[in-house]
Amino acid sequence: MSRIAYVNGRYVPHGQGAVHIEDRGFQFADGVYEVWAVMGGRLSDAAGHFERLDRSLAELSIDPPMSRAALTVVLKETVRRNRVREGLVYLQVTRGVAPRDHAFPAPGTPVSVIVTAHAIDRAATEVRAEKGAAVITVPETRWARCDIKTVSLLPNVLAKQQARAAGAVEAWFVDELGLVTEGASSNAWIIDKHGALRTRDTQANILRGITRQTLLAVMAREGLKVEERPFSPEEAKEAREAFITGAGTLVLPIVRINGQPVGDGKVGPVAKRLRRLYIEEARGTAL
Ligand SMILES: Cc1ncc(COP(=O)(O)O)c(C=O)c1O
Repeated sequence: MSRIAYVNGRYVPHGQGAVHIEDRGFQFADGVYEVWAVMGGRLSDAAGHFERLDRSLAELSIDPPMSRAALTVVLKETVRRNRVREGLVYLQVTRGVAPRDHAFPAPGTPVSVIVTAHAIDRAATEVRAEKGAAVITVPETRWARCDIKTVSLLPNVLAKQQARAAGAVEAWFVDELGLVTEGASSNAWIIDKHGALRTRDTQANILRGITRQTLLAVMAREGLKVEERPFSPEEAKEAREAFITGAGTLVLPIVRINGQPVGDGKVGPVAKRLRRLYIEEARGTAL
């Protein structure tokens, strides 16, 4: 089946989707993005991602491309036209097209908007989740505004490639204090050797993951206590369990860090249960 992309107001064959050579996203990575998991053809954690999009745009003084209602229609239509039942929908908004100059273009320059969607084989991702995955650690090299979901992702790209080369799914950034910030495209969690569920607080220079946010609400409902407190790679290696969260991975158990097993090297019961609870919640509330 041929794929369809939304590009600046038009639905076009994916292969023909193109933006201008002077798009500021291309020239300066001057743009933001969002990714929604698609479950049963619907957008999961919809409101959370819209809220974060609004915030990212506001932090960079980029005009919102359209109302939330209109954007919902575009996202859902892109999902529908690509016949995605299980997958991801990606939105990118840039500061638009203008002669190359670092400073902002003239007020009123239209922003660029693109949306793509693709299917994910959930059966294959379930198999991966049952086996658990590996992470490596890398030095934190990113800028100080990782709370903004910008398309400026080069350190994340390099970290992810290093992980891939090491046979790992994710790279965890480690800051100058020796503490894990987050993954290249996910938030990081452990159940430490004392049994405490821990993830880094969002005062730190990390992205406020929407999957993380929903999972925190699920945990509260389940009466699970969480400490929003950073941990070191050493603590992670000694931990009982570890996992990552993100729209792409949902809740993915981690069983190896830098080649060493976490706990007994097998997927633990808490991560497994949290994956199930998160997916139930996300499916149940998808828009
Ligand atoms: C750096 C980073 N941290 C965390 C996340 C997880 O965020 P979310 O749960 O909203 O997908 C992502 C997702 O892409 C990310 O890129």
